[in-house]
Amino acid sequence: MKNQITQYIEEIKAARIEDFKDRAAGVEQFRVRFLGRKGILADLFEQFKTLPNEQKKEMGVALNQLKAAAQAKIEEWKNFVEESAELNDTHDLTMPADFAQRGSRHVLSVTMNEIAEIFARIGFTVEESVEIEDDWHLFSALNFPPDHPARDMQDTFFVQKEEGKQDIALRTHTSSVQVRVMETHKPPIRIIAPGRVFRNEAISARAHCIFHQVEALYVDKKVTFADLKQTLLYFAKEMFGPDTQIRLRPSYFPFTEPSAEMDISCNICGGKGCNICKGTGWLEILGCGMVDPNVLEACGIDSKEYSGFALGMGVERMAMLKYQIRDLRLYFENDLRFLHQFDNII
Ligand code: DAH
Repeated sequence: MKNQITQYIEEIKAARIEDFKDRAAGVEQFRVRFLGRKGILADLFEQFKTLPNEQKKEMGVALNQLKAAAQAKIEEWKNFVEESAELNDTHDLTMPADFAQRGSRHVLSVTMNEIAEIFARIGFTVEESVEIEDDWHLFSALNFPPDHPARDMQDTFFVQKEEGKQDIALRTHTSSVQVRVMETHKPPIRIIAPGRVFRNEAISARAHCIFHQVEALYVDKKVTFADLKQTLLYFAKEMFGPDTQIRLRPSYFPFTEPSAEMDISCNICGGKGCNICKGTGWLEILGCGMVDPNVLEACGIDSKEYSGFALGMGVERMAMLKYQIRDLRLYFENDLRFLHQFDNII
C-alpha cells in the first residue's frame, strides 16, 4: 500500500494540465479519479481501516500527503483554467493598447505662454504680482482722475471701501504691475505682466467677470513712439503670421500720453472684410501708448531723463482671434469637447 501511495504522489506531481485537450473537463476528471466518492483516495481509506493498528500511523500520514497533493494540484489547475478563460472571453490580444488619457494645457495658458515667448525674444522678462490690489497701484499712481468710472462699484469688485481708508479691490487690469515694478526697479525696465483680472460685468458671450491680460512696459532713456510701433509690428507678425499688418488709432488711457489702440489686418479674410472683422478688414487687438510722465514721477522715476511705452492686451481676445473661438464662456466651462480641440497646440 505504501508503494502504491508513493506512486500516486509521483503521478500527481508529474501530471500536466496541457495534456488535456479540454482542460476544464480534464481537471474535473482528475478530481473524480482521486477525490471522488468512488475514487482512489476513498478506496485507499477503505483499505486503511483494515490495517493492523501498528501500521495505521505511518499509512495515515502517507494518505494525508496524497490527499493534500491531489487537492493542491486541482486548486492550481482550476485557477489556471479560470484565468485563461477570462483572457479568452474579454480580451482581444490583437487590439491596440489602451492609452491613459493625458491632460493638456488650457488654451489660455498656451496663448499666454506664446505671448511671453514672443516678448522674451526681444528681452522682456515676466513679472507677476498680487491680484488683490490697493487704490494707489490700481488707479492713483496710474493717473486716474478721482471720478473715473473704474473707481465705481459698478465696474470694480471692491474688497474694502471705507471712509478714511485706502480702497482695496480685485485688480481690474494688469497695469498695476507697471507701478509695482517701476517703484522697485531702476530703468532700464523691460517687462511683461501676465495675469488674471476682475471686472464687475454680467457674463455673456462677449464679457466675463474674470479674464486675463498681458501688460508690457519698457522704460529707458530715449524710448520713443517709433520703438513702440516697431515692437507692436514685431509682436503682431509673430503672433498672427508674417503677412499681418497693423494700424494705430488715437485713443485715451489715463496712464499713457499719447495713447493708441492697435488693430491688425483680419487674419480670417486677409483684410478683405468678413463677419469676424465686421466687414472692416481690421481687428482691434490692444491698447498702448507712451507712459504718461505723471505715472513715471508717481513711481519715483525722473520723467526728464526717462521715457517709456506700455501696452496691454486681453488674452481671451487673442485666443479668440487666433483659434476662432466665438464665446468667452467656453474658456471657463471645462467642457472636454472644447478643451480637447487644443490638445496639440504645444
Ligand atoms: N489697462 C488697460 C485696460 O485694462 C489696457 C492698457 C491700455 C494697458 C493701454 C496699457 C496701455 O499698458 O498702454 O483696458
